[in-house]
Amino acid sequence: MTVFNNNKVVLAYSGGLDTSVIIAWLKEKYGLETIAVLVDAGRARGLEELRQKALAIGAAEAIVVDAREEFAHDFVLPALMANALYEEKYPLVSALSRPLISKVLVDVAHKSGAGSVAHGCTAKGNDQVRFDLGIRALDPELKILAPAREWGMTREEALSYAATREIPVALTKGAPYSIDENLWGRAIECGPLEDPWEAPPDDAFSVTVSPYEAPDEGAGMEIEFAGGEPVAAGGKVLPTVDLIGEIDRVAGAHGFGRVDMVENRLVGIKSREIYEAPGALALILAHRELEDMVLPRELSHFKRLAEQKFTDMAYNGGWFDPLMDALRAFMEETQARVTGTVRLEFFRGACRVSGRKSPYSLYDFGLATYGGGDAFSHSAAKGFCNLYGLPLEVWAKKRTLDSGH
Ligand code: ARG
Repeated sequence: MTVFNNNKVVLAYSGGLDTSVIIAWLKEKYGLETIAVLVDAGRARGLEELRQKALAIGAAEAIVVDAREEFAHDFVLPALMANALYEEKYPLVSALSRPLISKVLVDVAHKSGAGSVAHGCTAKGNDQVRFDLGIRALDPELKILAPAREWGMTREEALSYAATREIPVALTKGAPYSIDENLWGRAIECGPLEDPWEAPPDDAFSVTVSPYEAPDEGAGMEIEFAGGEPVAAGGKVLPTVDLIGEIDRVAGAHGFGRVDMVENRLVGIKSREIYEAPGALALILAHRELEDMVLPRELSHFKRLAEQKFTDMAYNGGWFDPLMDALRAFMEETQARVTGTVRLEFFRGACRVSGRKSPYSLYDFGLATYGGGDAFSHSAAKGFCNLYGLPLEVWAKKRTLDSGH
């Protein structure tokens, strides 16, 4: 029998099958009293109902934490500043919320005096790594329980466990997916999606229409940034949470924002993943475009290397690693002049940039033009080429001496 500091455990509860069963299981197996915590990181529905359900199953306490603002400011915006796309495609939807939820769990544990925290992740995913590492980084003294990793129940077994204990389970016949969603997008797995050749059925999506059903008329949208943060969309100045919602709405209505990929998980598995994240993908596209206009070359090129490291660290559960603090500081430092406007055009599943402007633009018409008013020094270019190509020329002159020829 495991030894606990006390009999209280704080559970990251989603209201789904596994975390519902966990409340009962922790009580039966370890005699633990559960404090169920529902974290709202955006797109949450029926929270009060789910809270009541946790109590009905036997949780000692059930609380809802509205963490949308914190999620937007401390997790989503840093990821946007880093243009974070794992394997160039996935905007880290779940990877960003796990460290947030870890933080909430640890806070609740400290306030309630609980000695352990629990999550519902299985052994096969990245999320277990993100929770385990996040919690250990924030408080190494807390004991971490991951019942779904321990019990080895199949979905059928979990269902019958729930049935024998009268744990209500939402009927999932029509929707065989495992879905995780928050402000930054939705991740959809399982069911027919496990066959990488099978096209994702339309019922997997809820914020984007099929590009085939998108209107014939496209839509333009201007996104304004100040210091790297998006502040307005389509002429509306909105707080970050609402701004993302507004872009989701417009982009999604034009069928933009679906991702279908085979992804390398940290635990060694390749998995087929479907995401829909119209707002996130449009914002990253616009933000990167603005950076291309205002960041000087060396900074821009180096930033891409740092972005990749940032993204991999976040994906792999390293959000609270000291390297991430340093990378976040670097990203922040690069954003001072990322101020300006990008025009996006949505049309039938696509999103294109059609214009950009900034008071900090480094685009200089006089230097760039091929027409009249050219201010570029053509004579300096000749000398530049001479010296820049010098080592290559010296090397080429020795080619005749190459061995064997
Ligand atoms: N593969 C994605 C990731 O690792 C999505 C995970 C979704 N999580 C879930 N519990 N359904 O971030």
